[in-house]
Amino acid sequence: MSARPRSKAPVPPRVRAEFDRGEHNALVAGDDMYFVMERGTDVHVITSACPHRGGPLHLGEVEDDRLRCPWHGSFFPVGRLCDRAHPSVRVGDAVTVYLPATDHSPVPVHTMVRAGVNAA
Ligand code: FES
Repeated sequence: MSARPRSKAPVPPRVRAEFDRGEHNALVAGDDMYFVMERGTDVHVITSACPHRGGPLHLGEVEDDRLRCPWHGSFFPVGRLCDRAHPSVRVGDAVTVYLPATDHSPVPVHTMVRAGVNAA
């Protein structure tokens, strides 16, 4: 019996971004925005575009561990959003995240956003 070769799913191109979690709580790359949600000691970098119609999840409210989109009120479990966060590594306050590649390099920004933000 011969082993079947595993099919490899294509890995989407990613671009690395670094920021200080005490100074920044959002990243922007072109038209795409990402926000930081902290749970305990973990830092999650989450796409801000709501899966319904692209609403700004970073402006949502967290209610009962669910994030409410400000546009049409859909709720998203915070745990599920964090599970789908972009790959990142935190060392102290330094966070390195790998975001989907675009024509624009990610730029960390300090933005007053509500969702789970604990920026100093
Ligand atoms: S855009 Fe978020 S619920 Fe419609």
